[in-house]
Amino acid sequence: MALEMDSVPSLVLSVLAILVTLIFLMSTSKKKNSINRSSNKKLPPGEMGLPWIGETLEFHKAQRSNRLLEDFIQPRMTKHGNIFKTRLMGSPTVLVSGAEANKFFLSNEFKLVVSSWPSSSVQLMGTDCIMQKQGERHRCIRGAIASSLSCTGLEALVPKICSSIDKHLSKDWHGRDTVSLYPSVKKLSFSIVLECLLGIDVEPGMLEMFEGVVEGAFAAPVNLPGCRFWRAKKARLEIEKKLVGVVRRKREEMEQKVRREEERRLLSGLVLGLMKGEMSEKEVVDNVVLLVFAAHDTTSFAIAMICRMLALHPNCHSRLVEEHVEIAGSKRPGENLTLEDTKKMKYTWQVARESMRMFPPIFGSFRKAIVDIEYEGFTIPKGWKVLWTAYGTHYDSQCFPEPLHFNPSRFEEPIPPYAFVPFGGGPRLCAGYQLAKLNILLFLHFMVTHYDWSLLHKDETITADPLPFPSQGMPIKIAPKQPCK
Ligand code: HEM
Repeated sequence: MALEMDSVPSLVLSVLAILVTLIFLMSTSKKKNSINRSSNKKLPPGEMGLPWIGETLEFHKAQRSNRLLEDFIQPRMTKHGNIFKTRLMGSPTVLVSGAEANKFFLSNEFKLVVSSWPSSSVQLMGTDCIMQKQGERHRCIRGAIASSLSCTGLEALVPKICSSIDKHLSKDWHGRDTVSLYPSVKKLSFSIVLECLLGIDVEPGMLEMFEGVVEGAFAAPVNLPGCRFWRAKKARLEIEKKLVGVVRRKREEMEQKVRREEERRLLSGLVLGLMKGEMSEKEVVDNVVLLVFAAHDTTSFAIAMICRMLALHPNCHSRLVEEHVEIAGSKRPGENLTLEDTKKMKYTWQVARESMRMFPPIFGSFRKAIVDIEYEGFTIPKGWKVLWTAYGTHYDSQCFPEPLHFNPSRFEEPIPPYAFVPFGGGPRLCAGYQLAKLNILLFLHFMVTHYDWSLLHKDETITADPLPFPSQGMPIKIAPKQPCK
């Protein structure tokens, strides 16, 4: 009882402090709105919600249940149109939809807008990663990534990826009759980006450390013991320690000119930049973390959704299997697949694109206006955030007739520019697009030529935390196939 009495004054003081803060925030936000009115700037329509917090809770709730389009975007678009304002995570934000808007905002990166991720993501991925870079620094890092994914780079990657998949299936699938597809493919995609692209050996516990970082990427940036963000920062520090060791060892090796055959791997390219003084050690480490973060959750979700759609559409599955049986049949026993073979996987890529249209692994991303922007008769004030989303066009019947219908053949026809944007667009178009494509095509090749499989739960829900994933890990029943030849 005494304790309760003691806590009364502090409770009253806390409530008073919250009230004063709310009144202050409301009056400043009103002032800002009236400034915009008095300077004749017409803001987009929409509700700003509560002070600071805005509509963040509604947004997160919809995102977590993978119903961002149905529960957040569509109701507001019906009320306000293709462009509306809201407030998310403390920032006034304008959400834009449609191919024209995608083109306008994505292609005007660095001129009108810059990439703008939440503070927690920036701290966890690293302030020197590509997402945070602009102009010359951005071009330099993209150049290093692009050189590993050039035509020669991709040709060299194919046998490495095939060998990773083969090893993975022998270790994790062989002799089993059920597999949790999503975690299995995640482990595989993780080792493909680290070992095949970067040239870094996967050590036990590494995947879990990266997972720990991802979990805090959209958490409130509260660095207090026990909080999500605090746990994620701890995981980030562990990874950083490991990667600094890896980078220094690689530098020593390269200075002594050993393991020269490895020099086409991306880590060698980044370390070469470090040796030439074009990059700092922190830039190398932050970009390795970012690449792993960008690569493995996205690719594994894409593969899981492709498999789900194939299981639900047996005709598409049969056509896809035929394509792979023909390719496998054209090889001698033990002969490796080549980049040319992946180019023959045309129908498979249509299936993959149609699945990513319906289930984009990244719903969109944030930009920040660096000048006042005039768009569609509205002003987006400098400093406001802009959120472009893939859903805005992926489910638009003008761009994709009967958008709820799974129809891979729609990708036989050209798609209007900036209507299909699972990989973004403009100067920040996904830098790992080609690796993601190889990973998806080659995994499906091995899966459908080596196994008969079926989903255990046809209506498994998709959740997001922060990226989407099948809530039960997508268990599948598998049985080895007789060799194709
Ligand atoms: C299906 C798989 C993938 C999807 C759907 C995807 C999607 C995206 C999207 C939408 C963006 C643009 C974000 C923005 O506009 O702010 C992006 C950027 C990026 N992605 Fe991917 N990604 C995938 C796989 C990968 C892989 C495998 C890698 C690396 C090897 C990768 C590396 C990157 C990088 C480095 C960027 C930043 C580019 C920049 O800022 O210039 N991604 N990705």
